[in-house]
Amino acid sequence: MNNVLIAYATYSGNTKEAAELLADALGAAGCRAELHRIGTERVPDVSRHDALVVGSFTWAEGAVPEEVKDFILDVGYKPPRVFVFGTGDTQFGGDDLFCRAAVKLARFYESPMPPLKIEQSPRGEQEARVARWAGEIASVLREVTA
Ligand SMILES: Cc1cc2nc3c(=O)[nH]c(=O)nc-3n(C[C@H](O)[C@H](O)[C@H](O)COP(=O)(O)O)c2cc1C
Repeated sequence: MNNVLIAYATYSGNTKEAAELLADALGAAGCRAELHRIGTERVPDVSRHDALVVGSFTWAEGAVPEEVKDFILDVGYKPPRVFVFGTGDTQFGGDDLFCRAAVKLARFYESPMPPLKIEQSPRGEQEARVARWAGEIASVLREVTA
């Protein structure tokens, strides 16, 4: 069973909700998922996991939050399989800035999949997208770790 660490940063709770939904969805897709809230606990040993998922909100005109940058530095290396999701708000500037932090992080990590962008809370109609994305992660991991 593939072991996935979901590390997320949240300010007002949307990204936490998304991380928890994703953990359940990865479980349903046959993975073991562990949650880590960035900035609140000791950074886990990422190398003990088959994949890292990073979840981040977007800040001030497309910025990656400082605590996420600190987490990246604390991890200290680029793990080979990193997937990224983000929550954001289209009211902050349209397509270009929407979930821009997730786009930047996915590019930085050369993620094998495009980032999942969630508008605010993932509850409701966006839940199915989270579940689909989790299923895609599970199938990428099945291929690379088979
Ligand atoms: C000051 C401020 C700036 C923001 N800038 C952006 C932005 O540039 N792009 C975006 O998609 N969302 C932006 N947002 C929206 C948040 O990323 C969004 O509400 C997110 O879901 C918050 O996540 P959290 O509830 O996990 O803290 C901004 C929010 C605030 C308060």
